Parts: sequence; structure tokens; C-alpha cells
Amino acid sequence: MANTYDFGLVGLGVMGRNFILNVADNGFTAFGNDLDKEKVNALIEEGGDTHKVNADVDASNFVSALSKPRKIMLLVPAGKVVDIVIESLLPYLDEGDIIIDGGNSFFTDTDRREAYLKEKGINFFGAGVSGGAKGARKGPSIMPGGSRDAYQFVKPIFEAVAAKYKGEPCVTYLGPKSAGNYVKMVHNGIEYGLMQLTSEIYDLLKKAGGLTNEEQHKTFAEWNSGRLQSFLVEITSEILTQKDDLTDGDLVDMILDKAKQKGTGKWTSQNAMDLGIPVPTIDIAVSMREISALKDERIKADEIYDRPSPESVVKDTLTSKAEKALYFAFIMAYAQGMHQLADASKEYGYELDLGEIAKIWRAGCIIRAALLADITDAFKAQPDLPNLLLSPSFTEKVKETVAATRELVAYGATSGIPLPGLSNALTYFDAYTSSRLPLNMIQAQRDYFGSHTYERLDREGIFHTEWEN
Ligand code: 6PG
Repeated sequence: MANTYDFGLVGLGVMGRNFILNVADNGFTAFGNDLDKEKVNALIEEGGDTHKVNADVDASNFVSALSKPRKIMLLVPAGKVVDIVIESLLPYLDEGDIIIDGGNSFFTDTDRREAYLKEKGINFFGAGVSGGAKGARKGPSIMPGGSRDAYQFVKPIFEAVAAKYKGEPCVTYLGPKSAGNYVKMVHNGIEYGLMQLTSEIYDLLKKAGGLTNEEQHKTFAEWNSGRLQSFLVEITSEILTQKDDLTDGDLVDMILDKAKQKGTGKWTSQNAMDLGIPVPTIDIAVSMREISALKDERIKADEIYDRPSPESVVKDTLTSKAEKALYFAFIMAYAQGMHQLADASKEYGYELDLGEIAKIWRAGCIIRAALLADITDAFKAQPDLPNLLLSPSFTEKVKETVAATRELVAYGATSGIPLPGLSNALTYFDAYTSSRLPLNMIQAQRDYFGSHTYERLDREGIFHTEWEN
């Protein structure tokens, strides 16, 4: 058994077990490791017949079972555990071996680990894996970053297990150091934005149009066969048809309206602020999860303040406008995420290829959508495109959907239905496409109270005015 297995995986939770079985399904031999004996036994039992999967609780047995250079993937919770696992493996590793962190690690942690392991001759990859448990088993989108030379050893396995879009694997080498984790972080930021937007449309259809869950199920399903085709629209439709086991109603109506988060959306927003890149649709999606957590306060405030009753609307026109608004806002969320990636690439030296990133998001991952094929084409045609809104192929899509978005945002405001993601997407668009913004006033105010100076429209130079004279 020594030095024969093609691939090693530490962390045999749901994701890890599914990933390793996927590797074995694709003709590679794989060896698992977990401190939990039960998980080790469960994997041996599940993969036993294939003779391609084995596992052991002991780190030394695990490492020596693998062929060199060893390719060891970690699917363990992000944070301290990753460092602990790395330390437990180190005594048994040889120069040239490869460790791949498949979790949602913060990108600066990946940079630190990469530098630390490089000194020991070990290659370290941060590889975002998207698609949940089902994706891990049947084909995720994989976002690896690390040493380009070492990637050749991982490539055949990743390309075999990744989701395929028209035969093309949803994985590619993204860049050095933490490029993979960074791209996955922004993927998750976009994911937060799309989820927030979808939930607002669901709310609007319910409160303004009075659509039942069944009607909404059909509406989202219909959208999913058009230009809005995406994993999140598809599962929204499925969710709306799920019956509750414990009552006679639908499950979605019984779920507490407090959304949890593990932090990747917040990191995307925080880092966008550091870089000076506006991603308001992602920011508001994070804030809405925070507002949702204030359930008790919201209940009290709801009793204090009156809310206008929604004006009645014609269902059919509402549904068609909602489709347009959701499409418009999805574009804004992707535009902001791609913009952040472009800037981060320069700042951190990732040399990201945005067309390739959009390409590997077309299948397998949570934000997969028909739109990503168009985004891929836009960046392939113009690799240094500063913003999707400037791509000729997006102009018509945006022009055709913005009016409906305006109508719904206005409707939400007068009817007291919160549409923060939608209105934010619209505001982002209006601001980004305004050649003149009122920020001249802010500059004047800064100069007025703090002598911070300003520039002028009509001549070069830095100016200051004694305003109070
Ligand atoms: C994916 C997801 C996944 C993430 C969950 C939960 O791409 O498969 O992004 O990595 O962990 O979506 O994230 P939150 O708990 O922050 O909502």
C-alpha cells in the first residue's frame, strides 16, 4: 500500500467524503484521513467495492500511502484547524509534496501558510471549492491558486472531478499565492448579493402581487428556463414547492427570517473597502443578514411605525417587471464582483484572467448562471474591461431592463416593501453612469471646514478657498 494512492484527503465530513468519492469515480485511487474513526470506517465501507478508496486515522500511515509528489487536499473548517492539520502532516512530508486547502480560508491566512511551507519545500494551494455537498460529489467548480509549476500534478485530478460546461472543466490555474481563495471569497460575495436580490423579488411577488408559493414556484421555474437561468433561481423555485413535515403548510413559511453567515460575504465587503472598490450590492446583502438578526427589535419597531399598504398591481405585469429587475440587478452584482477582482489582481499581483474566472463559474458553483457565458465572452473580447457596464454586449441588456427596475424600486418605496438590494443595484448603476455627481459639494465642504483643498473642472492644480470671507 505504500506510496501508491494518487490523491489524499484530510477531513471526511460531508464535503470531504463526497469529494474523495468523486475522485475515485474518475479513475484515481484516493486515501482519506480523519481523526474520527467512524468517518474513516464509513468511507471505507462506502468506497470499498471500488478498491480505489481507503482511509486511516493515522497521519503517518495516511501520508505514506500516497504517491509522490503527494497531493493532499484539506477539507476542514477554515481557521486554526487548517494550521493544526498542516502541523500534523509536516513530519511525514517530503520536499515537493503538495497541500491543497479546499476550505473558505481567509486569503491572508493562505499567503502566510504558503510562505511558511515554501521554506520547507512544500507547495501550498488555496483552492476554493463551490457547489455544496452535491457539487463535491458530482462536480464542483474549483478555484486553485498557488505554484504554477506544482499545478501540473494536481491538474489531471481537478479537471476530471470538476463540473463540466459543454465539456470544459470548471477549474483552471488562477494565479499565485492566495489567488484561489480570493476569487472564491468574491464568488461568495456575489452569492450573497444574488441571494438577497432573489429574496427581495420573492417578497415583492408575495406582498405586491399576492402570488402564492405555488404560483411563485412556477414563475421562478419559468424564469429558470430563460435568460435568468441559474442555480439560485432554480433552487428558489424548488424551495417554494417544499411541503412542511410538521404542519400542513409550506416549509418556507415556517422558516425563521434570520440569516446566518460564516463570514466570506463580509470579508468581500471589508476588502473592497480596503481596495476602494464600490460593491454596494454585496455590502447591503451583508447588512441585511445583520438586520435580519435583530428580530426582536424589528418586531418592536414594526409595532411603532405604520407601513403603507401595498398598492394593488396587475400580477402579469408585476411578474414581467420582476424578471427584468432581477436580471438587471444580477448584472450589477456580477459587475461589482468582477470589478473587485480586477483591482485585487493588480494590488496583490495575482494576474487574474477575468474571462477564465467567469468561464469556470459557468457550471458547478453556487453562482452559476446563463449570464456567466455572456460575462465570459465580454472579458474574452476585452480582457482589461474595467466594468461590465462598459461592455458593448451588456449595454442592451441593461437598457432593456432598467426602466422596470425603476418602477419596482419606486413601488417598493411607496408601499413600504424593503428592496435594499434592488434599489442599491439601481443606485450603483445611476451613480456609475453619471458623468457629473454632486461630490463637488463634498469637496467644497471638506475644503470649507478643513482646508482639504479641491481640484477644478476648468484648470489644472490644487486649490483652496477662504470660504468664510
Ligand atoms: C459554495 C458556498 C459555500 C458557503 C455557503 C455558506 O460556494 O459552495 O459559497 O462555500 O460556505 O454558501 O456561506 P454562508 O454561511 O456565509 O452563507
